[in-house]
Amino acid sequence: MLKRAAITGIMGYLPDDVLTNSELEKLVDTNDEWIRTRTGIEERRILRKKGWASSDMGAEAVRGLLKKTGTSPDEIDLLICATVTADLIFPDNANTICDKAGIHNAFGFDINAACSGFLYSLTTGAKFIESGMCKKVIVVGADFMSSIIDYTDRATCVLFGDGAGAVLLEQSEDDTGIIDSSFGGDGSGRAFLHMKAGGSLRPATVETVMNREHFVYQEGRSVFKYAVRGMAESIGLVMNRNNLTADNLNWVVPHQANLRIINSVASLAGVPMDRVMINIHKYGNTTSGTLPLCLWDYESQLKKGDNLILVAFGGGFTWGATYIKWAYNGS
Ligand code: ACO
Repeated sequence: MLKRAAITGIMGYLPDDVLTNSELEKLVDTNDEWIRTRTGIEERRILRKKGWASSDMGAEAVRGLLKKTGTSPDEIDLLICATVTADLIFPDNANTICDKAGIHNAFGFDINAACSGFLYSLTTGAKFIESGMCKKVIVVGADFMSSIIDYTDRATCVLFGDGAGAVLLEQSEDDTGIIDSSFGGDGSGRAFLHMKAGGSLRPATVETVMNREHFVYQEGRSVFKYAVRGMAESIGLVMNRNNLTADNLNWVVPHQANLRIINSVASLAGVPMDRVMINIHKYGNTTSGTLPLCLWDYESQLKKGDNLILVAFGGGFTWGATYIKWAYNGS
C-alpha cells in the first residue's frame, strides 16, 4: 500500500517591524479605508534587519521547526524552498537555508511558482516520501517581498509583506496525510504579473534600474478574475474527487492575496467563512509564506483527522488545490 506523507510539524517566522496602512498613506496616494475594503489588509510585516534576506527568515522557521518537533538536523533528507525572492539568482535558497540551519545530510532545491510555490513544493516533497526515497522532508515558503516592491506604486505596495513558514513531512502511519492535489498552469498569464527586468530576458542595466523595472508589475483586475476562477475550479475538482462537501470539510486554507478573492472562493465552494483560515489582515500577501503561516496561526485549532483543502493562485499563472487529512492534534 502507498504510504502517504503527513505534515508532522509547522513553524513560522515573521519580522518584528510592522507597516500599517496609515504609514502607507504617507508614502503613496492611498488610504486605510481603500486598502481594508479592497483587500482586507490592515498591516504587514517588513524585514528591516541589516544583512538579512529571505533565506534568513526561512532558516529561522526551520531552526524553530527542528526544535519544536525534536528533530536532529542530520535526520533531514531533503529541503525544498518555495520562493520568488531567493537571496541570489543562483545558487538556490534551499541549500543556503540548510547551511544556516545546520542541516548537512540533505539535498535541496527551490521551486518558483509565485504564490502557488508552497503548494507545489508540498506535493513535490510528499512524492519523495511516498516513493520511499526520503524519510524526513522540510518544505519552506520564504519571501522577502518588500525587496521587490515599488513603494511609489500604490497598486502593489499595499498588498505585500514579508515572512516565512516551514513544515516537516514524514511517512504517515495511518490514513492521515496528503491525499490528493490538482494543479493548473497558463504561461500566457505572465503578461499580467511579472518582474520586467533582472532575468536573462532583460538583464539589469542602468536603464532598467532607472525605469523601475526590478519590481513586481501586476494588472490587478485581470489577475483577480483569473485567481477566483483558478482557485474555485481546483477546489471544486478536489472536493468532488474526494467526496468532500461543506459538511465534512473542516478547513479551507486559501492563499492570502485578497480577502475578496477568499470570500468569492469560499462562497463558490459553499464553505462558511468560519471554516476558512484568514490572516491577511495581519501579514498581507507573503507569497510563498501565506499557507504555512496560516497553518501555523491555526495549528492549535486543528485536530487529527480534520479534512483540509489548501488552495492557491499565483504568477505564471499557477494554481491548484491539495487535500490533506490532518495528522495530529494541534493543541
Ligand atoms: N489606494 C487607492 N486607490 C487605489 C489603490 C490604492 N492603494 N490601488 C489602486 N487604486 C485605484 C486604481 O488606480 C483605480 O482607480 P481608477 O478607477 O481611477 O482607475 C481604482 O483604485 C480601482 O483599481 P483596480 O485595480 O480595479 O482595483 P481592484 O478592486 O481590482 O483592487 C487589487 C486591486 C487589490 C490589486 C485586486 O485587483 C487584486 O487583489 N488582484 C489580485 C491579486 C492577486 O491575487 N495576485 C496573485 C498573487 S500575487 C503573486 O503571485 C506574486
